[in-house]
Amino acid sequence: MPTHVFPAARFTAATAPGGLPLLGHAPAFARRPLAFVAGLPAHGDLVRLRLGPLDAYVACHPELVRRLLAEDRTYDKGGLVLDRAREVLGDGLATCPAAAHRRQRRMLQPAFHRDRLPGYAAMMAEEIAGTTASWRDGDTIDVPAAMYRLTTAVTARCLFAAHERAGSLPVHESMDVITRGVGRRVMMPLPGVDRIPTPGNRRFRRARQDLREITERLIADYRAVGTDHGDLLSMLLGARDEDGQGLSDAEIHDHVVTFLLAGMETTAATLSWAWTLLAANPSVRARLHTELDTVLDGRPARHEDLPALPLTARIVSETLRLYPPVWILSRTVTTATELGGHRVPAGATILFSPYLLHRRADLFPCPDRFDPDRWLTTARPAPGTYAPFGLGARRCIGETFGTTEAALAIATIAARWTITPTPGRPVRPTRSSSLSPRPFTAALARRSR
Ligand code: HEM
Repeated sequence: MPTHVFPAARFTAATAPGGLPLLGHAPAFARRPLAFVAGLPAHGDLVRLRLGPLDAYVACHPELVRRLLAEDRTYDKGGLVLDRAREVLGDGLATCPAAAHRRQRRMLQPAFHRDRLPGYAAMMAEEIAGTTASWRDGDTIDVPAAMYRLTTAVTARCLFAAHERAGSLPVHESMDVITRGVGRRVMMPLPGVDRIPTPGNRRFRRARQDLREITERLIADYRAVGTDHGDLLSMLLGARDEDGQGLSDAEIHDHVVTFLLAGMETTAATLSWAWTLLAANPSVRARLHTELDTVLDGRPARHEDLPALPLTARIVSETLRLYPPVWILSRTVTTATELGGHRVPAGATILFSPYLLHRRADLFPCPDRFDPDRWLTTARPAPGTYAPFGLGARRCIGETFGTTEAALAIATIAARWTITPTPGRPVRPTRSSSLSPRPFTAALARRSR
């Protein structure tokens, strides 16, 4: 594991080669975003890009990423990627500016306190069992769709536990349209295209409206009853700031949509990639089966099993290294400053990419190899090298929620099923702001122990 201490070295800066007149690097970025971004460290630690009319800098060195994320007022939420996400998420926790963030984060943190986790995990376990109950030996499933259904059911249940059938609330359909719509918009550097009344844009707007109505109805129901249902919405309704002030309905709505959007696609992508990696690495899969058979003895995984499932946890960490679902993010420079000794002007967009960091051979030997045992060491990676959940004040609030959900789903499913992607068709990522696999099918085989 990388344990480097980065000296107060000089950091190099360069403009990425190959920019075209007018369009700059936008075509190369749009064509093969992952390969393009992963190739940038070869040019410098801070690499300048032109994306159409926009200038952007990519922080390629872990120490620069650490500094960028440590100074959340100088490098605030905003820029290319965030501005488009804000159109949907409003001023929810993930998209609000630094000035509003401290208060919000303090108010919402208790909803993700570790004491709440066992309650969420019990709901997760039920939803995992429910989603896989219809699986039959020999079935072929669309893996990303199945994992998306699973994480939607889990997130909806943990948000709205009191709703009779939270897992089947019509949030599924609207969230699906919204997630994909946001992903596409974020990758479209040209503003305005999303306002053209195409069928896709109309569907997107309708989905946002539907989701707003569902959450408003649920908020009203909960306010009327007024008890703690052990779920996220109860926590949002009970949240108070230092002056005893609660959240408005509009703020709660933005947080609900944020949790749905932030939690569903990311965890679904992690699970889908995990199944492809396990199928491609049968020796790891065999060791996983041994761990699960020993600890679970055929029953579904529970929260209290997790400490006894270290290989399962390493598989989650290694999957997130190879395929960090949030693979690229942006910040906007609020006041002219310097990053690594290089001046960056106010208003500039700075990008950073967990994918880029995780695939650097100087940080992770044989970076493309799936090797959960690289996490056996107790040394923590140097700050800025491993960042699937971001870093600093804006680090993911749902990290433990997401890793718990992923570990429970992998353990419960792998204990009973092997999932083997249909041969001959390599699984490829979508071209989106989230690193999800394109649809792929797999055969289910019930395991006999
Ligand atoms: C594997 C699953 C997940 C991954 C990889 C992930 C990744 C991330 C990343 C990279 C950030 C930082 C964004 C930035 O710096 O701009 C973030 C923030 C956030 N995530 Fe997650 N996330 C996951 C699961 C979840 C879940 C399950 C929830 C909620 C239920 C959630 C809610 C949030 C929120 C609200 C923020 C904003 C935090 C803040 O600014 O204070 N995430 N996530």
